[in-house]
Amino acid sequence: MADRLAAASAIRLSNISKSFDGVRALTDVSIEIRVGTVHALVGENGAGKSTLGKIIAGVHQADSGSLAFDGASVAFASPRDAIGHGVTMVAQELALIPSLSVLENVYLGNEDHRGPFVRTSALRERFRALSERTGITLDPAATVSSLPVADQQKVEVLRALASNASVIVMDEPTARLATDEALGLRSIIKRLRESGTTIVYVSHFLEEVLDLADDITVLRDGELVHSGEAAGHTPDSLVELMIGRALDSVFPGKQPPAPGAEVRLSVAGLTGTGFSGVSFDVHAGEIVAIAGLVGSGRSEVLRAVYGADRSAAGAVAVDGGRYQRRSPDRSVSLGVVMLPESRKSQGLFLDASISDNVSISALPQVSTWGVVRSGAERSLVASFLDDVDISMRHMGQAIGTLSGGNQQKALFAKALITGPRLLIVDEPTRGVDVGAKRQIYDLLARLAAQGLAILMVSSEMEEVIGLAHRVVVMNHGQVAGTLNHGQVTERRIADLAFGSAVAVETI
Ligand SMILES: Nc1ncnc2c1ncn2[C@@H]1O[C@H](COP(=O)(O)OP(=O)(O)OP(=O)(O)O)[C@@H](O)[C@H]1O
Ligand SMILES: [Mg+2]
Repeated sequence: MADRLAAASAIRLSNISKSFDGVRALTDVSIEIRVGTVHALVGENGAGKSTLGKIIAGVHQADSGSLAFDGASVAFASPRDAIGHGVTMVAQELALIPSLSVLENVYLGNEDHRGPFVRTSALRERFRALSERTGITLDPAATVSSLPVADQQKVEVLRALASNASVIVMDEPTARLATDEALGLRSIIKRLRESGTTIVYVSHFLEEVLDLADDITVLRDGELVHSGEAAGHTPDSLVELMIGRALDSVFPGKQPPAPGAEVRLSVAGLTGTGFSGVSFDVHAGEIVAIAGLVGSGRSEVLRAVYGADRSAAGAVAVDGGRYQRRSPDRSVSLGVVMLPESRKSQGLFLDASISDNVSISALPQVSTWGVVRSGAERSLVASFLDDVDISMRHMGQAIGTLSGGNQQKALFAKALITGPRLLIVDEPTRGVDVGAKRQIYDLLARLAAQGLAILMVSSEMEEVIGLAHRVVVMNHGQVAGTLNHGQVTERRIADLAFGSAVAVETI
Protein backbone atom coordinates (compact mmCIF):
# COMPACT_ATOMS: atom_id res chain seq x y z
CA MET A 1 0.00 0.00 0.00
CA ALA A 2 2.67 2.45 1.03
CA ASP A 3 4.61 1.52 -2.10
CA ARG A 4 1.66 2.21 -4.30
CA LEU A 5 1.13 5.58 -2.71
CA ALA A 6 4.75 6.55 -3.00
CA ALA A 7 5.15 5.34 -6.56
CA ALA A 8 1.88 6.47 -8.01
CA SER A 9 0.93 9.69 -6.35
CA ALA A 10 -0.70 11.73 -9.09
CA ILE A 11 -1.33 14.92 -7.29
CA ARG A 12 -0.07 15.99 -3.96
CA LEU A 13 -1.56 19.16 -2.57
CA SER A 14 0.48 20.59 0.25
CA ASN A 15 -0.66 23.30 2.64
CA ILE A 16 -3.01 24.94 0.14
CA SER A 17 -4.63 28.19 1.25
CA LYS A 18 -6.84 30.48 -0.79
CA SER A 19 -8.76 33.66 0.07
CA PHE A 20 -11.17 35.76 -1.94
CA ASP A 21 -11.17 39.43 -0.98
CA GLY A 22 -9.77 38.57 2.40
CA VAL A 23 -12.24 35.75 3.07
CA ARG A 24 -10.68 32.36 3.54
CA ALA A 25 -12.05 29.69 1.20
CA LEU A 26 -9.32 27.14 1.96
CA THR A 27 -6.93 26.95 4.87
CA ASP A 28 -3.82 24.81 4.85
CA VAL A 29 -5.26 21.82 3.00
CA SER A 30 -2.94 18.91 2.30
CA ILE A 31 -4.16 15.82 0.47
CA GLU A 32 -2.89 13.18 -1.86
CA ILE A 33 -4.80 11.93 -4.87
CA ARG A 34 -3.70 8.55 -6.18
CA VAL A 35 -3.35 7.87 -9.90
CA GLY A 36 -6.17 5.89 -11.42
CA THR A 37 -8.59 6.38 -8.56
CA VAL A 38 -11.80 8.27 -8.03
CA HIS A 39 -11.15 10.76 -5.26
CA ALA A 40 -14.29 12.39 -3.90
CA LEU A 41 -14.48 15.83 -2.31
CA VAL A 42 -17.44 16.29 0.00
CA GLY A 43 -18.57 19.00 2.38
CA GLU A 44 -21.31 21.50 3.01
CA ASN A 45 -22.12 24.38 0.68
CA GLY A 46 -19.25 26.81 0.83
CA ALA A 47 -16.83 24.26 2.32
CA GLY A 48 -14.31 24.93 -0.45
CA LYS A 49 -14.79 21.94 -2.76
CA SER A 50 -15.09 23.89 -6.00
CA THR A 51 -12.23 26.15 -5.00
CA LEU A 52 -9.98 23.15 -4.42
CA GLY A 53 -11.08 21.57 -7.70
CA LYS A 54 -10.39 24.82 -9.53
CA ILE A 55 -6.90 25.05 -8.05
CA ILE A 56 -6.18 21.53 -9.28
CA ALA A 57 -7.44 22.46 -12.76
CA GLY A 58 -5.64 25.79 -13.01
CA VAL A 59 -8.77 27.95 -12.83
CA HIS A 60 -7.64 29.48 -9.54
CA GLN A 61 -4.14 29.78 -8.17
CA ALA A 62 -3.46 29.04 -4.52
CA ASP A 63 -2.25 31.94 -2.36
CA SER A 64 0.17 29.59 -0.68
CA GLY A 65 1.02 25.94 -0.67
CA SER A 66 2.07 23.74 -3.53
CA LEU A 67 0.91 21.24 -6.07
CA ALA A 68 3.04 18.33 -7.17
CA PHE A 69 2.03 16.31 -10.17
CA ASP A 70 3.59 12.91 -10.57
CA GLY A 71 6.16 13.88 -8.02
CA ALA A 72 7.18 17.08 -9.79
CA SER A 73 6.12 20.46 -8.51
CA VAL A 74 3.75 22.32 -10.86
CA ALA A 75 1.98 25.65 -10.89
CA PHE A 76 -0.83 25.94 -13.39
CA ALA A 77 -1.24 29.51 -14.58
CA SER A 78 -4.51 28.85 -16.40
CA PRO A 79 -6.95 26.09 -17.35
CA ARG A 80 -5.14 25.84 -20.70
CA ASP A 81 -1.88 25.34 -18.89
CA ALA A 82 -3.50 22.57 -16.82
CA ILE A 83 -4.89 20.90 -19.95
CA GLY A 84 -1.37 20.97 -21.32
CA HIS A 85 -0.43 18.85 -18.30
CA GLY A 86 -3.38 16.54 -18.85
CA VAL A 87 -5.68 18.06 -16.22
CA THR A 88 -9.16 19.35 -17.01
CA MET A 89 -12.41 20.14 -15.25
CA VAL A 90 -16.16 19.77 -15.67
CA ALA A 91 -17.25 22.93 -13.85
CA GLN A 92 -20.21 23.16 -11.49
CA GLU A 93 -21.62 26.06 -13.49
CA LEU A 94 -22.03 25.28 -17.16
CA ALA A 95 -19.46 27.13 -19.23
CA LEU A 96 -20.61 26.43 -22.76
CA ILE A 97 -21.01 28.87 -25.63
CA PRO A 98 -24.76 28.77 -26.19
CA SER A 99 -24.75 29.99 -29.78
CA LEU A 100 -22.35 27.29 -30.97
CA SER A 101 -23.13 23.70 -31.85
CA VAL A 102 -22.56 20.66 -29.66
CA LEU A 103 -19.65 19.66 -31.89
CA GLU A 104 -18.00 23.08 -31.66
CA ASN A 105 -18.41 23.20 -27.90
CA VAL A 106 -16.95 19.74 -27.39
CA TYR A 107 -13.80 20.45 -29.42
CA LEU A 108 -13.37 24.16 -28.80
CA GLY A 109 -10.06 24.87 -27.14
CA ASN A 110 -8.98 21.26 -27.02
CA GLU A 111 -5.29 21.26 -27.80
CA ASP A 112 -5.13 19.39 -31.06
CA HIS A 113 -7.95 21.39 -32.59
CA ARG A 114 -6.63 24.88 -32.42
CA GLY A 115 -6.42 27.12 -35.45
CA PRO A 116 -8.91 28.11 -38.09
CA PHE A 117 -8.57 25.01 -40.24
CA VAL A 118 -10.33 22.48 -38.13
CA ARG A 119 -12.01 20.04 -40.47
CA THR A 120 -15.59 19.49 -39.48
CA SER A 121 -15.77 16.08 -41.09
CA ALA A 122 -12.78 14.90 -39.06
CA LEU A 123 -14.36 16.29 -35.91
CA ARG A 124 -17.66 14.59 -36.71
CA GLU A 125 -15.82 11.31 -36.96
CA ARG A 126 -14.09 11.88 -33.64
CA PHE A 127 -17.41 12.86 -32.09
CA ARG A 128 -19.02 9.67 -33.34
CA ALA A 129 -16.22 7.62 -31.81
CA LEU A 130 -16.53 9.55 -28.55
CA SER A 131 -20.28 8.93 -28.45
CA GLU A 132 -19.70 5.26 -29.01
CA ARG A 133 -17.08 5.05 -26.30
CA THR A 134 -19.16 6.89 -23.72
CA GLY A 135 -22.68 5.94 -24.71
CA ILE A 136 -23.59 9.65 -24.57
CA THR A 137 -25.56 10.39 -27.70
CA LEU A 138 -26.28 13.96 -28.73
CA ASP A 139 -26.90 15.59 -32.09
CA PRO A 140 -23.51 17.18 -32.90
CA ALA A 141 -25.17 19.85 -35.05
CA ALA A 142 -27.67 21.00 -32.40
CA THR A 143 -27.17 24.51 -31.05
CA VAL A 144 -26.32 24.27 -27.36
CA SER A 145 -28.85 26.95 -26.33
CA SER A 146 -31.65 24.80 -27.74
CA LEU A 147 -30.78 21.83 -25.51
CA PRO A 148 -32.33 20.98 -22.15
CA VAL A 149 -29.91 21.54 -19.25
CA ALA A 150 -29.33 17.82 -18.80
CA ASP A 151 -28.02 17.63 -22.35
CA GLN A 152 -25.89 20.71 -21.84
CA GLN A 153 -24.37 18.96 -18.86
CA LYS A 154 -23.55 16.01 -21.10
CA VAL A 155 -21.82 18.36 -23.55
CA GLU A 156 -19.61 19.53 -20.66
CA VAL A 157 -18.73 15.96 -19.82
CA LEU A 158 -17.98 15.12 -23.46
CA ARG A 159 -15.79 18.18 -23.71
CA ALA A 160 -13.70 17.01 -20.76
CA LEU A 161 -13.46 13.49 -22.16
CA ALA A 162 -12.53 14.76 -25.63
CA SER A 163 -9.45 16.42 -24.20
CA ASN A 164 -8.10 12.97 -23.28
CA ALA A 165 -6.99 14.30 -19.94
CA SER A 166 -5.40 11.97 -17.45
CA VAL A 167 -6.92 13.88 -14.53
CA ILE A 168 -10.50 15.14 -14.67
CA VAL A 169 -12.06 17.22 -11.91
CA MET A 170 -15.83 16.75 -12.04
CA ASP A 171 -17.75 19.28 -9.96
CA GLU A 172 -21.24 17.93 -9.40
CA PRO A 173 -21.54 16.49 -12.89
CA THR A 174 -24.79 14.72 -12.04
CA ALA A 175 -26.55 17.69 -10.42
CA ARG A 176 -28.51 18.32 -13.60
CA LEU A 177 -28.96 14.73 -14.68
CA ALA A 178 -31.89 12.43 -14.09
CA THR A 179 -31.29 9.23 -12.17
CA ASP A 180 -30.74 6.95 -15.16
CA GLU A 181 -28.41 9.44 -16.82
CA ALA A 182 -26.47 9.80 -13.59
CA LEU A 183 -26.09 6.02 -13.51
CA GLY A 184 -24.80 6.15 -17.08
CA LEU A 185 -22.19 8.70 -16.09
CA ARG A 186 -21.15 6.52 -13.18
CA SER A 187 -20.33 3.65 -15.49
CA ILE A 188 -18.37 6.00 -17.75
CA ILE A 189 -16.37 7.13 -14.72
CA LYS A 190 -15.69 3.55 -13.71
CA ARG A 191 -14.47 2.77 -17.22
CA LEU A 192 -12.24 5.84 -17.20
CA ARG A 193 -10.74 4.68 -13.91
CA GLU A 194 -10.06 1.25 -15.39
CA SER A 195 -8.16 2.89 -18.20
CA GLY A 196 -6.01 4.76 -15.67
CA THR A 197 -7.71 8.15 -15.58
CA THR A 198 -7.80 9.93 -12.23
CA ILE A 199 -11.11 11.52 -11.31
CA VAL A 200 -11.59 14.15 -8.63
CA TYR A 201 -15.29 13.93 -7.94
CA VAL A 202 -17.39 16.55 -6.15
CA SER A 203 -20.94 15.57 -5.25
CA HIS A 204 -23.65 16.06 -2.67
CA PHE A 205 -25.11 12.64 -3.49
CA LEU A 206 -23.42 10.59 -0.83
CA GLU A 207 -24.61 7.22 -2.13
CA GLU A 208 -23.08 8.14 -5.45
CA VAL A 209 -19.85 9.11 -3.73
CA LEU A 210 -19.74 5.85 -1.82
CA ASP A 211 -20.41 3.84 -4.96
CA LEU A 212 -17.68 5.55 -6.96
CA ALA A 213 -14.93 6.75 -4.70
CA ASP A 214 -11.76 4.94 -3.74
CA ASP A 215 -10.78 7.77 -1.44
CA ILE A 216 -12.78 10.55 0.14
CA THR A 217 -11.71 13.97 1.36
CA VAL A 218 -14.05 15.88 3.63
CA LEU A 219 -13.79 19.66 3.90
CA ARG A 220 -15.49 21.86 6.45
CA ASP A 221 -15.25 25.66 6.38
CA GLY A 222 -12.24 25.45 4.09
CA GLU A 223 -10.34 23.08 6.32
CA LEU A 224 -9.44 19.46 5.88
CA VAL A 225 -11.46 17.29 8.22
CA HIS A 226 -10.64 13.88 6.85
CA SER A 227 -8.94 12.25 3.89
CA GLY A 228 -8.68 8.53 3.41
CA GLU A 229 -10.09 5.39 1.91
CA ALA A 230 -13.81 5.27 1.20
CA ALA A 231 -14.16 1.73 2.49
CA GLY A 232 -15.99 1.58 5.79
CA HIS A 233 -17.82 4.88 5.35
CA THR A 234 -21.59 5.27 5.25
CA PRO A 235 -23.71 8.29 4.29
CA ASP A 236 -24.21 8.92 8.00
CA SER A 237 -20.53 8.79 8.84
CA LEU A 238 -19.81 11.24 6.02
CA VAL A 239 -22.56 13.61 7.14
CA GLU A 240 -21.10 13.59 10.60
CA LEU A 241 -17.68 14.50 9.26
CA MET A 242 -19.17 17.16 6.98
CA ILE A 243 -21.27 19.01 9.49
CA GLY A 244 -19.69 17.91 12.73
CA ARG A 245 -22.81 16.24 14.08
CA ALA A 246 -25.32 13.59 13.16
CA LEU A 247 -28.38 14.59 11.19
CA ASP A 248 -31.70 13.18 12.29
CA SER A 249 -34.56 12.24 10.01
CA VAL A 250 -34.42 14.28 6.87
CA PHE A 251 -38.07 14.91 6.17
CA PRO A 252 -40.53 16.95 8.17
CA GLY A 253 -43.81 15.20 8.99
CA LYS A 254 -46.40 15.40 6.23
CA GLN A 255 -49.48 17.44 6.89
CA PRO A 256 -51.92 16.83 4.06
CA PRO A 257 -54.21 19.72 3.18
CA ALA A 258 -57.56 19.83 4.94
CA PRO A 259 -60.34 18.01 3.09
CA GLY A 260 -62.17 20.52 0.96
CA ALA A 261 -59.16 22.79 0.50
CA GLU A 262 -59.71 24.95 -2.56
CA VAL A 263 -58.23 23.96 -5.90
CA ARG A 264 -55.42 26.41 -6.58
CA LEU A 265 -54.26 25.00 -9.90
CA SER A 266 -56.26 22.89 -12.29
CA VAL A 267 -54.68 21.40 -15.39
CA ALA A 268 -56.90 19.60 -17.89
CA GLY A 269 -55.83 17.86 -21.06
CA LEU A 270 -52.67 19.90 -21.35
CA THR A 271 -50.83 19.01 -24.54
CA GLY A 272 -47.57 20.35 -25.93
CA THR A 273 -44.17 19.30 -27.17
CA GLY A 274 -43.27 16.12 -25.31
CA PHE A 275 -46.53 15.59 -23.41
CA SER A 276 -50.22 15.17 -24.06
CA GLY A 277 -53.54 14.99 -22.25
CA VAL A 278 -52.02 15.85 -18.86
CA SER A 279 -54.59 16.52 -16.13
CA PHE A 280 -54.20 17.08 -12.39
CA ASP A 281 -55.13 19.53 -9.63
CA VAL A 282 -53.09 21.13 -6.88
CA HIS A 283 -54.96 22.29 -3.79
CA ALA A 284 -54.04 25.06 -1.41
CA GLY A 285 -51.65 23.64 1.16
CA GLU A 286 -50.75 20.70 -1.01
CA ILE A 287 -47.40 19.55 -2.37
CA VAL A 288 -47.86 17.69 -5.64
CA ALA A 289 -44.83 16.10 -7.27
CA ILE A 290 -44.56 15.10 -10.89
CA ALA A 291 -42.38 12.00 -11.09
CA GLY A 292 -41.20 10.02 -14.09
CA LEU A 293 -38.11 9.10 -16.04
CA VAL A 294 -36.06 11.64 -17.92
CA GLY A 295 -37.85 12.53 -21.13
CA SER A 296 -41.22 11.64 -19.63
CA GLY A 297 -42.28 15.28 -19.96
CA ARG A 298 -42.13 16.38 -16.32
CA SER A 299 -40.24 19.65 -16.71
CA GLU A 300 -42.06 20.42 -19.96
CA VAL A 301 -45.39 20.30 -18.13
CA LEU A 302 -44.10 22.71 -15.46
CA ARG A 303 -42.86 25.10 -18.11
CA ALA A 304 -46.14 24.97 -20.00
CA VAL A 305 -48.19 25.64 -16.86
CA TYR A 306 -45.98 28.59 -16.00
CA GLY A 307 -46.03 29.93 -19.55
CA ALA A 308 -42.33 29.57 -20.23
CA ASP A 309 -43.22 27.34 -23.20
CA ARG A 310 -46.27 27.29 -25.44
CA SER A 311 -48.75 24.46 -25.21
CA ALA A 312 -50.92 23.29 -28.08
CA ALA A 313 -54.12 22.33 -26.30
CA GLY A 314 -55.75 21.94 -22.92
CA ALA A 315 -56.84 24.24 -20.15
CA VAL A 316 -55.17 25.69 -17.08
CA ALA A 317 -57.09 27.41 -14.29
CA VAL A 318 -55.64 29.30 -11.34
CA ASP A 319 -57.96 29.84 -8.37
CA GLY A 320 -60.85 28.73 -10.54
CA GLY A 321 -60.21 31.34 -13.24
CA ARG A 322 -59.24 30.23 -16.73
CA TYR A 323 -55.65 31.07 -17.51
CA GLN A 324 -55.20 30.64 -21.22
CA ARG A 325 -52.59 32.96 -22.73
CA ARG A 326 -49.84 32.12 -20.33
CA SER A 327 -46.52 33.91 -19.93
CA PRO A 328 -44.03 34.20 -17.06
CA ASP A 329 -45.05 37.85 -16.52
CA ARG A 330 -48.74 37.05 -16.35
CA SER A 331 -48.02 34.08 -14.08
CA VAL A 332 -46.18 36.26 -11.61
CA SER A 333 -49.06 38.73 -11.52
CA LEU A 334 -51.39 35.81 -10.73
CA GLY A 335 -49.14 34.72 -7.88
CA VAL A 336 -47.62 31.80 -9.79
CA VAL A 337 -43.84 31.66 -9.40
CA MET A 338 -41.43 29.16 -10.84
CA LEU A 339 -38.02 28.18 -9.54
CA PRO A 340 -36.20 27.06 -12.66
CA GLU A 341 -33.98 24.06 -13.14
CA SER A 342 -30.83 25.90 -14.12
CA ARG A 343 -29.76 28.88 -12.08
CA LYS A 344 -27.25 30.15 -14.57
CA SER A 345 -29.29 30.19 -17.74
CA GLN A 346 -32.66 31.04 -16.25
CA GLY A 347 -32.46 32.41 -12.80
CA LEU A 348 -29.63 34.61 -11.69
CA PHE A 349 -27.58 37.57 -12.89
CA LEU A 350 -24.21 36.49 -11.63
CA ASP A 351 -22.50 39.89 -11.68
CA ALA A 352 -25.33 41.64 -9.86
CA SER A 353 -25.54 41.72 -6.08
CA ILE A 354 -27.42 39.18 -4.00
CA SER A 355 -29.95 41.81 -2.92
CA ASP A 356 -30.61 42.96 -6.49
CA ASN A 357 -31.07 39.40 -7.67
CA VAL A 358 -33.51 38.62 -4.91
CA SER A 359 -35.44 41.89 -4.94
CA ILE A 360 -35.84 42.16 -8.69
CA SER A 361 -38.84 39.87 -8.58
CA ALA A 362 -40.33 41.70 -5.60
CA LEU A 363 -40.01 45.07 -7.26
CA PRO A 364 -41.21 44.77 -10.82
CA GLN A 365 -41.11 48.54 -11.10
CA VAL A 366 -37.32 48.44 -10.79
CA SER A 367 -36.27 47.81 -14.34
CA THR A 368 -32.59 48.60 -14.02
CA TRP A 369 -29.95 47.26 -11.71
CA GLY A 370 -30.23 49.98 -9.13
CA VAL A 371 -29.41 49.42 -5.51
CA VAL A 372 -32.27 48.31 -3.36
CA ARG A 373 -33.71 51.67 -2.50
CA SER A 374 -35.42 51.79 0.84
CA GLY A 375 -34.52 50.34 4.17
CA ALA A 376 -37.83 48.48 4.20
CA GLU A 377 -36.97 46.71 0.97
CA ARG A 378 -33.57 45.90 2.34
CA SER A 379 -34.94 44.30 5.47
CA LEU A 380 -37.52 42.39 3.44
CA VAL A 381 -34.74 40.91 1.33
CA ALA A 382 -32.71 40.19 4.45
CA SER A 383 -35.55 38.31 6.09
CA PHE A 384 -36.06 36.08 3.07
CA LEU A 385 -32.35 35.39 2.82
CA ASP A 386 -32.48 34.47 6.46
CA ASP A 387 -35.38 32.08 5.81
CA VAL A 388 -33.26 30.06 3.43
CA ASP A 389 -30.26 30.40 5.75
CA ILE A 390 -27.93 31.69 3.08
CA SER A 391 -24.30 31.91 3.98
CA MET A 392 -22.87 35.17 2.66
CA ARG A 393 -20.71 38.08 3.68
CA HIS A 394 -23.16 40.86 2.83
CA MET A 395 -26.11 41.44 0.50
CA GLY A 396 -24.10 43.67 -1.81
CA GLN A 397 -21.78 40.80 -2.71
CA ALA A 398 -22.01 39.68 -6.36
CA ILE A 399 -24.17 36.59 -6.39
CA GLY A 400 -21.67 34.82 -8.65
CA THR A 401 -19.18 34.78 -5.78
CA LEU A 402 -21.45 32.58 -3.65
CA SER A 403 -20.87 28.84 -3.63
CA GLY A 404 -23.20 26.88 -5.92
CA GLY A 405 -25.52 25.71 -3.17
CA ASN A 406 -25.87 29.19 -1.74
CA GLN A 407 -26.86 30.48 -5.18
CA GLN A 408 -29.63 27.90 -5.20
CA LYS A 409 -30.81 29.18 -1.82
CA ALA A 410 -30.81 32.74 -3.18
CA LEU A 411 -33.07 31.58 -6.01
CA PHE A 412 -35.47 30.27 -3.41
CA ALA A 413 -35.52 33.60 -1.62
CA LYS A 414 -36.13 35.32 -4.95
CA ALA A 415 -39.14 33.11 -5.63
CA LEU A 416 -40.61 33.45 -2.15
CA ILE A 417 -40.27 37.20 -1.79
CA THR A 418 -43.09 37.72 -4.28
CA GLY A 419 -45.49 36.01 -1.87
CA PRO A 420 -46.67 33.41 -4.36
CA ARG A 421 -49.95 31.47 -4.16
CA LEU A 422 -48.59 28.66 -6.29
CA LEU A 423 -44.90 27.78 -6.25
CA ILE A 424 -43.56 25.67 -9.11
CA VAL A 425 -40.15 24.14 -8.37
CA ASP A 426 -37.98 22.08 -10.68
CA GLU A 427 -35.34 20.09 -8.82
CA PRO A 428 -35.45 22.29 -5.70
CA THR A 429 -32.38 20.93 -3.95
CA ARG A 430 -29.91 20.40 -6.74
CA GLY A 431 -26.42 21.26 -5.58
CA VAL A 432 -27.58 21.87 -2.03
CA ASP A 433 -25.80 20.13 0.86
CA VAL A 434 -27.49 17.66 3.18
CA GLY A 435 -28.04 20.14 5.98
CA ALA A 436 -29.43 22.80 3.67
CA LYS A 437 -31.66 20.23 1.97
CA ARG A 438 -33.25 19.64 5.31
CA GLN A 439 -33.87 23.39 5.64
CA ILE A 440 -35.46 23.57 2.20
CA TYR A 441 -37.71 20.59 2.98
CA ASP A 442 -38.76 22.27 6.22
CA LEU A 443 -39.38 25.49 4.36
CA LEU A 444 -41.52 23.82 1.68
CA ALA A 445 -43.51 21.92 4.30
CA ARG A 446 -44.00 25.09 6.34
CA LEU A 447 -45.12 27.08 3.31
CA ALA A 448 -47.58 24.35 2.37
CA ALA A 449 -48.93 24.30 5.92
CA GLN A 450 -49.53 28.03 5.54
CA GLY A 451 -51.64 27.37 2.46
CA LEU A 452 -49.20 27.72 -0.40
CA ALA A 453 -49.80 25.26 -3.24
CA ILE A 454 -46.58 23.64 -4.44
CA LEU A 455 -45.99 21.80 -7.70
CA MET A 456 -42.59 20.20 -7.97
CA VAL A 457 -40.46 17.99 -10.16
CA SER A 458 -37.67 16.01 -8.59
CA SER A 459 -35.46 13.21 -9.83
CA GLU A 460 -34.69 12.27 -6.27
CA MET A 461 -37.10 9.55 -5.35
CA GLU A 462 -36.73 10.06 -1.61
CA GLU A 463 -37.52 13.73 -1.99
CA VAL A 464 -40.71 12.91 -3.85
CA ILE A 465 -41.72 10.31 -1.30
CA GLY A 466 -40.66 12.38 1.70
CA LEU A 467 -42.36 15.61 0.68
CA ALA A 468 -45.26 15.13 -1.70
CA HIS A 469 -48.83 14.67 -0.57
CA ARG A 470 -49.71 13.44 -4.02
CA VAL A 471 -47.58 12.16 -6.88
CA VAL A 472 -48.48 12.40 -10.54
CA VAL A 473 -46.38 9.85 -12.39
CA MET A 474 -45.64 10.47 -16.05
CA ASN A 475 -44.58 7.99 -18.66
CA HIS A 476 -43.84 8.94 -22.26
CA GLY A 477 -45.54 12.31 -21.99
CA GLN A 478 -48.73 11.03 -20.40
CA VAL A 479 -49.99 10.65 -16.87
CA ALA A 480 -49.55 6.97 -16.03
CA GLY A 481 -51.25 7.32 -12.68
CA THR A 482 -51.71 9.48 -9.62
CA LEU A 483 -50.80 8.27 -6.15
CA ASN A 484 -52.68 9.89 -3.32
CA HIS A 485 -51.57 10.50 0.24
CA GLY A 486 -50.91 7.16 1.87
CA GLN A 487 -50.38 5.40 -1.47
CA VAL A 488 -47.00 6.88 -2.29
CA THR A 489 -44.25 4.28 -2.30
CA GLU A 490 -41.06 3.96 -4.30
CA ARG A 491 -42.30 0.70 -5.84
CA ARG A 492 -45.55 2.19 -7.05
CA ILE A 493 -43.85 5.24 -8.52
CA ALA A 494 -41.29 3.07 -10.30
CA ASP A 495 -43.92 0.72 -11.65
CA LEU A 496 -45.90 3.59 -13.10
CA ALA A 497 -42.84 5.36 -14.43
CA PHE A 498 -41.65 2.23 -16.19
CA GLY A 499 -45.15 1.34 -17.30
CA SER A 500 -45.40 -2.11 -15.76
CA ALA A 501 -48.81 -3.68 -15.23
CA VAL A 502 -48.43 -4.25 -11.50
CA ALA A 503 -48.80 -0.58 -10.85
CA VAL A 504 -52.06 0.07 -12.52
CA GLU A 505 -54.04 -2.05 -10.13
CA THR A 506 -52.60 -0.27 -7.10
CA ILE A 507 -54.23 2.99 -8.13
N1 LIG B 1 -14.85 33.96 -7.08
C1 LIG B 1 -15.11 34.09 -5.79
N2 LIG B 1 -15.14 35.30 -5.18
C2 LIG B 1 -15.39 35.43 -3.87
N3 LIG B 1 -15.63 34.41 -3.04
C3 LIG B 1 -15.64 33.17 -3.57
C4 LIG B 1 -15.39 32.94 -4.97
N4 LIG B 1 -15.45 31.62 -5.19
C5 LIG B 1 -15.74 31.04 -4.00
N5 LIG B 1 -15.85 31.97 -3.03
C6 LIG B 1 -16.12 31.72 -1.61
O1 LIG B 1 -15.28 30.68 -1.17
C7 LIG B 1 -15.96 29.80 -0.28
C8 LIG B 1 -15.89 28.38 -0.80
O2 LIG B 1 -16.68 28.30 -1.97
P1 LIG B 1 -16.74 27.02 -2.89
O3 LIG B 1 -17.43 27.45 -4.14
O4 LIG B 1 -15.39 26.42 -3.02
O5 LIG B 1 -17.69 26.06 -2.03
P2 LIG B 1 -18.26 24.61 -2.38
O6 LIG B 1 -17.74 23.68 -1.34
O7 LIG B 1 -17.96 24.29 -3.79
O8 LIG B 1 -19.82 24.82 -2.13
P3 LIG B 1 -21.11 24.27 -2.95
O9 LIG B 1 -21.38 22.92 -2.42
O10 LIG B 1 -22.20 25.21 -2.53
O11 LIG B 1 -20.81 24.33 -4.40
C9 LIG B 1 -17.37 30.35 -0.15
O12 LIG B 1 -17.42 31.15 1.00
C10 LIG B 1 -17.53 31.20 -1.40
O13 LIG B 1 -18.44 32.26 -1.19
MG1 LIG C 1 -19.15 24.13 -5.45
